[in-house]
Amino acid sequence: MSNLVDVKHYKKPDLEDLNLFEQRKKDHIRLALDAKTQRLAGDDFSRIKLVPQALPELNFSEVSLETKLLGQKVSSPHFISSMTAGHKQGFEINSLLAEASISKDWLFCVGSQKRSLINPEEISDIQQIAKKYKKVKLVSNIGLEEVIQFKIADILKLSNSINAVGLIIHANALQEVFQNKKDVVMKNGFKAVAEIVKKSDVPVIVKEVGFGISSEMAQKLFDIGVQVVDVAGSGGTHWGMIEALRQDKKSLSARAIDHFADWGMSTVDCLLDLQSYLNSLDDSEKIDSSVWASGGIRSGVDSAKALALGASAVGLAQPLLKNLIRKNKIGSVDQVIQAMDQFDFELKTSMFCLGLKNVSEFSQRKVWYGR
Ligand SMILES: Cc1cc2nc3c(=O)[nH]c(=O)nc-3n(C[C@H](O)[C@H](O)[C@H](O)COP(=O)(O)O)c2cc1C
Repeated sequence: MSNLVDVKHYKKPDLEDLNLFEQRKKDHIRLALDAKTQRLAGDDFSRIKLVPQALPELNFSEVSLETKLLGQKVSSPHFISSMTAGHKQGFEINSLLAEASISKDWLFCVGSQKRSLINPEEISDIQQIAKKYKKVKLVSNIGLEEVIQFKIADILKLSNSINAVGLIIHANALQEVFQNKKDVVMKNGFKAVAEIVKKSDVPVIVKEVGFGISSEMAQKLFDIGVQVVDVAGSGGTHWGMIEALRQDKKSLSARAIDHFADWGMSTVDCLLDLQSYLNSLDDSEKIDSSVWASGGIRSGVDSAKALALGASAVGLAQPLLKNLIRKNKIGSVDQVIQAMDQFDFELKTSMFCLGLKNVSEFSQRKVWYGR
């Protein structure tokens, strides 16, 4: 494989690199909370309607959101989608997200662990969290560029070092281009992912970061053994816009970004694209080849629509961050829990009114229309 980096010989980031890294992570948080980077592709969830069951034939208290994700029993199909890590505020933000995820018993997918890869001797914020919060159910995260360029063994250490129950690889071609780097290294991606899948002790998940994964691509990923595809479609946080807003106004990327405002496939379109594939699976295959939905989920009703369209889990990024960080200040764990409660309540209410007792019942009856 070309471009392989041996961690031992990797150029250690100097102070200037680290300062730039810190600034970039800070900018990401600030810009993700700026309305200019949100819902640029519109709200496709409004195209999908759910079919209420006027006589639901069950009591509200009977509805359960409990499910199994990556072999773990969790209280809800909702999960905390990968966000920030590896910088000065990383420990504080991720500790609060970890506490909230334990209190709610949700999966917690952490932000990119790239810093651990380039600084393996450092104990990272996420490693500290894994040590401190024994009950937390963590999922690792690393970028496709790193998977291609670094040694497989070093990538696998990332999930081992935090006792993760899964390993997410994020594919973020558009975001990387808008960072104005010298090159974006994405050649040999399938080969690298296939090798990780072969050697990983935990399930491998591939996600986008808000521009979607088509049915054709999802099937190619399942064919090489990827267990979960999180479509992470457009309709929520726009990572091209976030990176472009960080660039000089006269740069090519800053000038180009408006033309990419509605780039990608929305989460709804990704799930619609996957319908014939999902309908061809029997129940056991559905567990092995899971589709998760994230990107633009802004209410528990959106979550219900994603589950109705065949997703088995639903991820939230910006909506949780927005509740945790207000007016530039990191708030309390209760603020995150309150937002999580709201999403769960709205999903549970939707399920009750659809006459669905359990998450698994979404796949037994078609409860949506629209296109
Ligand atoms: C501040 C912030 C940092 C993020 N960092 C990562 C990351 O490190 N790795 C990753 O896979 N996705 C990352 N994401 C992308 C999210 O996981 C998600 O795919 C995207 O924001 C779309 O979801 P949303 O509309 O709910 O925000 C980040 C999102 C936010 C808001």
